[in-house]
Amino acid sequence: MKQLFDGSVVLNPVPVVVVTSRNSEGKQNAFTVAWAGTVCSDPPMLSIAIRPSRLSYEYIKETMEFVVNIPNIFQVRETDYCGVISGRDEDKIKNLGFTYKKSHHIDAPYIEEFPINIECKVKEIIHLGVHDLFLAEVVGSSINKNLIDENGKIHFERANLMCYAHGEYYPMTKKSIGKFGFSIAKNLELINKYKHIKSYKEYLNERENPKKLKKRKKKK
Ligand SMILES: Cc1cc2nc3c(=O)[nH]c(=O)nc-3n(C[C@H](O)[C@H](O)[C@H](O)COP(=O)(O)O)c2cc1C
Repeated sequence: MKQLFDGSVVLNPVPVVVVTSRNSEGKQNAFTVAWAGTVCSDPPMLSIAIRPSRLSYEYIKETMEFVVNIPNIFQVRETDYCGVISGRDEDKIKNLGFTYKKSHHIDAPYIEEFPINIECKVKEIIHLGVHDLFLAEVVGSSINKNLIDENGKIHFERANLMCYAHGEYYPMTKKSIGKFGFSIAKNLELINKYKHIKSYKEYLNERENPKKLKKRKKKK
């Protein structure tokens, strides 16, 4: 049975990131964003939605640049702090003892302590309602070396990342429960890796008949 729930976006979970910017006078700021997402693979583009009341809105609109910094679970307090204090009142990054670093492709700084930093140039600002949508091209990223293997693959699962759902922060687990296309895989290695992942029907069946299952397991 379902309950109707109207009038809000219930799309959850979402990423939670800290966005850094720099105005034309060189003042730097950081604020927390949960309304962020990938919008295009080629050119690589992402979006962030910002309320005009944020100091960061002013900075980003002025220079049309920002960095998306992805925090880990050990930085959840700092992430929350950047989302409840304005740069108008405090130098958040200084208070936290974190470090602004010069970006490689843009003038907006990134934060050294966060494991992943995505440098972006704004292409378009769309007024939506209480938020404006900033569509931006990713011009380069810095990623902690220990997250990249010898083949150049990024292991996000090693980064202890988190997500955000309905006002709360949650950790991402390290163990994958599937891989793109594994449901129709022909490759033996892939089939074996995920053979313990059941279909929903099997899951329901086992949940409804746990005793039968235990007996079957004992017999084996
Ligand atoms: C978890 C979390 C997510 C947030 N997401 C957004 C967001 O997507 N867009 C936005 O405009 N503000 C968002 N905020 C609020 C701003 O981060 C907050 O108002 C901040 O103090 C603005 O800082 P500034 O004035 O220094 O730019 C979020 C806050 C938190 C705690």
